[in-house]
Amino acid sequence: MKKIFIKTFGCQMNEYDTNRIYDTVRNIGYIKTNDHLNADCYLLNTCHIRDKSKEKVFDEIGRVRKNYKNKKKPIVIVAGCVAQAESGEMVKREPYIDIIIGPQSYHKINRIIENFNFKNKRELTEFDTEEKFNYLDKIRNNDSNVSSFLTIQEGCDKFCNFCVVPYTRGPEFSRPFEKIIKEAESLIKNGAKELTLLGQNVNAYLYKDGDKIYKLSNLILELDKITELKRIRYTTSHPRDMTEDLIKCYSSSKKLMPFVHLPIQSGSDKILKLMNRNHKVEKYLEIHRMIKEINNDVEFSSDFIIGYPGEMDSDFNDTMELVKNIKFINSYSFIFSPRPGTPASRLKPIDKEIAKERLINIQELLEDYQIKKNQSLIGKSIEVLVENKLRNQDKYFGRNAFLNSVIFEGAKKYIGKLVDIKISKTNRNTLFGKIDEKKNMRAA
Ligand code: SAM
Ligand code: SF4
Ligand code: F3S
Repeated sequence: MKKIFIKTFGCQMNEYDTNRIYDTVRNIGYIKTNDHLNADCYLLNTCHIRDKSKEKVFDEIGRVRKNYKNKKKPIVIVAGCVAQAESGEMVKREPYIDIIIGPQSYHKINRIIENFNFKNKRELTEFDTEEKFNYLDKIRNNDSNVSSFLTIQEGCDKFCNFCVVPYTRGPEFSRPFEKIIKEAESLIKNGAKELTLLGQNVNAYLYKDGDKIYKLSNLILELDKITELKRIRYTTSHPRDMTEDLIKCYSSSKKLMPFVHLPIQSGSDKILKLMNRNHKVEKYLEIHRMIKEINNDVEFSSDFIIGYPGEMDSDFNDTMELVKNIKFINSYSFIFSPRPGTPASRLKPIDKEIAKERLINIQELLEDYQIKKNQSLIGKSIEVLVENKLRNQDKYFGRNAFLNSVIFEGAKKYIGKLVDIKISKTNRNTLFGKIDEKKNMRAA
């Protein structure tokens, strides 16, 4: 067998794709290795969402070239969103790269690797999403993690003015309902207890079969029936597609986690308009109200872009007010990064120092809510899905309902189980504790 090493950047969809690439190349005799210094094929699965993503790829390739200086050259593949966006320029600038393959062409990877010779560089960047999933549906998903990802939808038709995703992942495509359920059943057979349904616009999922229409809510309620499955999550969603049927799942589904990651980007209507988000802050507040009304346990998290062109102090203050109003937990905030080819990249940027200061302010506020939420759990027993044992430590790792990491003293028998952990201390991102033996008689 030959060995393939994949280094993955970016979002969960890239992680899912990486696993599917491992599954695929197994059919042509390549097995996964974690040893980046001894691979026959070295693949970089790249992300283009922010900053100097292209430069990072070139730096990475430079390191690979050095590491393999006195060894047989591996086949070097650049995949993912940078590959899609920058294909032509990359091979010209870095001849050490052998193959460029965009995210919607992975179904062709076996043929390309098998027929590859070092004199014949290849670039594949067509958008063949349907063909890709038809192909992948025939290859068993070998993921055996307690918590597994499952891509149900790809691409984006929304074209927010700052975002590169519609150009790198192509138009929206929803996988057939029954194929998703089949893959879910197979993952559950492999040991998955939690599934995170993935899509760049996951709540825009829409699959038509004759006169039947399937939405994300239908998928959630169907998965809800599978006894062995304990938890359901989905990410990332858009406020415009947060429909009533989906909102109702927060009371009708027993397994949907009470945690909504719903990016708003800004708390100012003016900025939302400039971003082409096509909704107002009020719409977001209404979703929040509706969900809290049917299930008050639900917590929200968001992504924020700070320093978007045109953002004034008053717009930023509106964003801070929104954070205070919703009390988001587990959120992400980034300084606006102009992405080549997007409409926002042509706008006049705001002062860098002002943007940095605003980022610090919002991160402090977000952190404050996060820490308060975590501290409120000290001394309490919370339900955790145990995922694995930590390497080199006699401790275990799992997550609570709100996706916080929990590290605790436990035992192997609890892996894959929902257990109660008594929390003794916390920091911003992690909760620490030990098994609450009294409460866990049912899990053992
Ligand atoms: N589809 C999701 C939505 O509409 O909210 C977002 C997906 S995007 C992969 C993840 C996050 O990256 C976005 O929510 C946004 O906050 C951030 N992002 C995207 N483009 C960006 C840019 N040009 N500069 C800074 N952050 C950006
Ligand atoms: Fe990007 Fe999300 Fe907007 Fe689509 S909806 S363009 S993925 S930010
Ligand atoms: Fe990055 Fe592409 Fe995901 S740009 S965030 S890897 S969709």
